[in-house]
Amino acid sequence: MKALILHENITPSTTATPTKERKTYRVSIEDAPKPAPQAGEALVRMTAAALNHRDEWIRKGQYARIREGVILGSDGCGVVEKVASEADEHWIGEEVVLNPSLGWGANPRVQDRNYSILGLPQNGTFAEYCTVPVQNLFAKPPHLSAAEAAALPLAALTAYRAVRTHGEVGEGTRLLVTGIGGGVAQFAAQFAVALGASVYATSGDDAKLQTAKERLGIKGGVNYRSEDWHKTLLAEAGEFDCIIDSAVGDSLDTLIGLLTMGGRYVFYGATNGRPPTLNVQTIFWKQLRLQGSTMGNDAEFGAMLDFITEKRLCPMLDSVRPFEEIGAAFEAMSSGAQFGKIVVTFSHEG
Ligand SMILES: NC(=O)c1ccc[n+]([C@@H]2O[C@H](COP(=O)([O-])OP(=O)(O)OC[C@H]3O[C@@H](n4cnc5c(N)ncnc54)[C@H](OP(=O)(O)O)[C@@H]3O)[C@@H](O)[C@H]2O)c1
Repeated sequence: MKALILHENITPSTTATPTKERKTYRVSIEDAPKPAPQAGEALVRMTAAALNHRDEWIRKGQYARIREGVILGSDGCGVVEKVASEADEHWIGEEVVLNPSLGWGANPRVQDRNYSILGLPQNGTFAEYCTVPVQNLFAKPPHLSAAEAAALPLAALTAYRAVRTHGEVGEGTRLLVTGIGGGVAQFAAQFAVALGASVYATSGDDAKLQTAKERLGIKGGVNYRSEDWHKTLLAEAGEFDCIIDSAVGDSLDTLIGLLTMGGRYVFYGATNGRPPTLNVQTIFWKQLRLQGSTMGNDAEFGAMLDFITEKRLCPMLDSVRPFEEIGAAFEAMSSGAQFGKIVVTFSHEG
């Protein structure tokens, strides 16, 4: 089968003493053996897969425990071709989306220490075939195409937990979603609008804010590159009950300043790194909650798909390309110009 495989670049040392350089990696489409499902697993013939920023962090070598030779990819949709156990045969021929959370464990509040995400260390969805535990198979929402369904798993799960479980977003919640061009951010905004929240956003691109107003139903927003953007936002929207962020960096204190008394700051990433300062006085005086969030448990994955089906939500796709062009898909994600999920499809030819 064809698969996108990660390799460490071998650079010959030019000095006698070893230096502590960051390893670099490359990805290439190669022939790989078709996997066989082990006990409790299913073999899925992939129809579509989607990129996440995680794949790009791994490709850049900026991720923990990178494994040479791994097949990347956490998101995918396909058709079950084979199962290891007779009891699971009812899945054969079913169109499914894959839950990329592997081994969350029994505690719904937090994942097990052995928890992992499909696509590192276990081989992932950027291949014509992928094996996952049967419990990670979920029926594809019927109103979505395979490309749309493939765009859901990692980003929509992360957004669902951030918005519902931690953000406690509901009717009338005043919510700010930062960086609306992001894959998770667009789902967070979409879910919150469907829950009746009053949603505002930031972006580094005015055109993305305009698109988010038209297609996601957000009320307004500001460009985080503009001067005094937080003052403009405060004047336009007032204080927020909840903020959902993945940038952090030097904007954390500014964001905290936009929260109302008892507000919630939920973050699931730190694209811009650690905050240089932290206004702890504002946090205790306003009784704010700073809540980290990662992915979601298995019940949340099912609830997220049910919610999408009930509300007939469709993910925004930036682009859909044949799998053979996945290199261009990585470059598009790296440039940050995308708005919505970047999807690749499999033709299974040759
Ligand atoms: N913990 C988890 O489970 C989890 C899950 C998914 C993602 N993540 C992390 O969350 C981050 C986003 O992931 P993603 O897949 O959604 O990435 P993505 O689709 O590549 O989006 C990244 C977005 O970040 C926004 N951004 C950049 N600088 C910003 C700033 N100063 N303020 C606000 N927004 C800014 C940009 O929005 P604009 O284009 O609108 O400017 C950009 O589109 C990554 O760091 C990723 O590793 C974590």
